[in-house]
Amino acid sequence: MPIDARALYKKYHDELSVLSRSLRKKFYPMQKAGYLTTFGDVEGEMMYMLIREGQPETVFEISPNAGWSTNYILAALTKNKKGTLHSFDILTHMFGRPMEETVRGNQCDLCDLSRFQLHIGDARETAKTVPGEIQFLLIDSCHTDWFAKWFTSEVFPRVRGTIIVQDISHWDRRESSSEATFMLDWLLREKIDATLLGDLEKDVRSTDLRNDIAERRGLRSNSLIIRAPFTHADAPVTFKPGLDELIKEAVSLIDRGDAVAADIVLSRIMHVLVTDPTRVNRHRFLMKLCELYQRIGDQDEAHRCAQRAFGVVLGSDYQQRRKLMPELLILLLRRHQWQLFFQLKCVLLLSPSSWGLMLKAKFQFLKNVLLRK
Ligand SMILES: C[S@@+](CC[C@H](N)C(=O)[O-])C[C@H]1O[C@@H](n2cnc3c(N)ncnc32)[C@H](O)[C@@H]1O
Repeated sequence: MPIDARALYKKYHDELSVLSRSLRKKFYPMQKAGYLTTFGDVEGEMMYMLIREGQPETVFEISPNAGWSTNYILAALTKNKKGTLHSFDILTHMFGRPMEETVRGNQCDLCDLSRFQLHIGDARETAKTVPGEIQFLLIDSCHTDWFAKWFTSEVFPRVRGTIIVQDISHWDRRESSSEATFMLDWLLREKIDATLLGDLEKDVRSTDLRNDIAERRGLRSNSLIIRAPFTHADAPVTFKPGLDELIKEAVSLIDRGDAVAADIVLSRIMHVLVTDPTRVNRHRFLMKLCELYQRIGDQDEAHRCAQRAFGVVLGSDYQQRRKLMPELLILLLRRHQWQLFFQLKCVLLLSPSSWGLMLKAKFQFLKNVLLRK
């Protein structure tokens, strides 16, 4: 049965509003401590609501890392007053702190920790130690094809309920990992019906149903939802043309010397970047636009793109900003955007946490120049 995201948001709106505020109190300390908080807001909220609806007894989370996604699952089980979460991670410590202590310490005040069990080791071994049926499964772990082969053949058959596989595809763009390729081929080959969470997210974001939910990590979702036992469909997931296709089209028009037609396609790309602030890596697309505008001789528009990329990077969350500033510095250098380059350099000099990454990016750049890449 298709998932009615709007109906779910209407039903769970008040719970989500409280949860978002409780999670936000954990988000900043986690960011500052250097922990990953990779789960996007809407995918976390959808996971919470699907667990509230499904009332699972046994939930598997492969894998929790520092426990950001764990929060959504545990909060839902706590509200259900039912169920146990088994989380599996290969790490024994994070920043010198035992994993058990790390994950438990990162749970918000709406989580009943007595429902949580952590299993340390390779999930391909440890998952067997918890036998029986699984009623809800989250996969966000090792993003490789061999790992996907394992969980589709060994874990999926144990599930009677909802499966969420993270990091597979946005509504308009597949991820480039071997896991994503494997999963999308597997769905096609087995003709298994699936939903792109990004499609649900796009619909919900066009309403006012989430307006008073506090933002934590407002990045768009790239998860896949599958229901087990599986239902079958000829075209399991369909993609709308994404920015990558539009960029290819613009490049081929520029190569053919048609600057007017290329400018029209570039405007369409810019429209998406300006109207979708949740898109990941917007700075990269904007710097690509900067390059393409330079190629058609429009320096003003090229500068505006670089300026926007600068704003996107400086306005992003702490962990993101730390990583993205050195990357943008090199992109600005490549595009000869000197004013922005020196401005960013000043910001970077005042950000010691990015110095290591800046040196690495410069070294990579010099290596590429020497190898003429
Ligand atoms: C992307 S992180 C998970 C992020 C987490 N869900 C969150 O919300 O922040 C991936 C995790 O998978 C774990 N992992 C990788 N290979 C694994 C394996 N074979 N068995 C168990 N865990 C594994 C890593 O240690 C890492 O903590």
